[in-house]
Amino acid sequence: MVTIRKPKLYITRELFEEAVKRLDEVYDYEVWDRYEPPPYDYLLKKLPEYDAVVTLLSDRIDCNLIERISHRTRIISQYAVGYDNIDIECATRKGIYVTNTPGVLTEATADLTFALLLSVARRIVESDHFVRWGEWKRTKTGWHPHMMLGTEVHGKTIGIIGFGRIGREVAKRARGFNMKILYYDPVRAPEDLEKSLNAKYVDLDTLLSKSDFITIHVPLSKETRHMINEDKFKKMKRGAILINTARGGIIDTDALVKALEEGILAGAGLDVYEEEPLDPNHPLTRFKNVVLVPHIGSATRETRLAMANLVVDNLLAFARGEVPPTLVNREVTNIRKPGFS
Ligand code: NAP
Ligand code: GLV
Ligand code: GLV
Repeated sequence: MVTIRKPKLYITRELFEEAVKRLDEVYDYEVWDRYEPPPYDYLLKKLPEYDAVVTLLSDRIDCNLIERISHRTRIISQYAVGYDNIDIECATRKGIYVTNTPGVLTEATADLTFALLLSVARRIVESDHFVRWGEWKRTKTGWHPHMMLGTEVHGKTIGIIGFGRIGREVAKRARGFNMKILYYDPVRAPEDLEKSLNAKYVDLDTLLSKSDFITIHVPLSKETRHMINEDKFKKMKRGAILINTARGGIIDTDALVKALEEGILAGAGLDVYEEEPLDPNHPLTRFKNVVLVPHIGSATRETRLAMANLVVDNLLAFARGEVPPTLVNREVTNIRKPGFS
């Protein structure tokens, strides 16, 4: 009997057993089982022995690493929709397939975007602290016309930067809140979609000057890094609220702090940061009108499981010699056929 060696797979963090076990018959896999990420130097030594790898957005997969693994590794399956941590151009050149997890996390991320928007507008976190730490009790005042006044959401204008999967899903939620919707994207959406969402296409500067709430949904790339900089903050309507659930690097953080100090922004809701985890002494933590959460856009049990299953679907399809369902770098199919043979 001939035993065929299964391809070796390295998974850089524990995902969900019920999804990962679907790989049992096809792959020999090993999992990094610590909570903190594997160090870059560890991956550099470890990964060259693997045919496939599952990565997280916090793993730096640069060209240096890709060149070290490309004699053997055929597929990188990212457990996230964003893939700015991977040098895609380099992977393609080296014939490595890269997949991601689009779609299954769209609604969860749009929900979190709205949770942040409402939290900032209605001072939810500040109010919780007010109750929890005894401030409310100390006022001896159960209800006061001026207590914790926030700002309306309904009837206000929301500006959506990046009108892809998540941006459009945010627009649906904004519609439910009777907001006016502006959007900016390199490509204008089809007219029937604009109509059904009641969304108006504008240029970026118009969006910034007209929106009460600005929310970012573009991928991080060379083009979008620091696309919201000091110059852009100057163009915003005074008193706007900025929400970012895309990537920290899209905003120049120093310029953001300055805009908060100067009152250009009335508040911000952030899920993502230029450096993660955020230092608790970071200037952003000084503002009461800023709500900070630790990159939890897709963090629901259902969504994280669906992401794990999509990672597995991609790996299984690839092993069967099929183009994986959510391949990022289509051009790689011209360089190498899918599969391990
Ligand atoms: P998507 O469907 O690809 O949408 C991104 C949109 O941004 C596309 O319409 C894209 O247009 C547009 N875009 C690209 N460059 C732009 C620019 N310079 N200015 C304006 N718009 C631009 O992606 P998605 O699934 O909505 O995800 C968006 C991003 O959210 C991901 O890349 C990821 O970084 C982030 N994310 C974060 C979390 C979280 O946990 N906080 C969860 C999920 C996703 P084209 O298609 O024409 O390029
Ligand atoms: C999360 O940030 C993702 O890109 O999936
Ligand atoms: C508030 O509780 C009100 O009744 O207006």
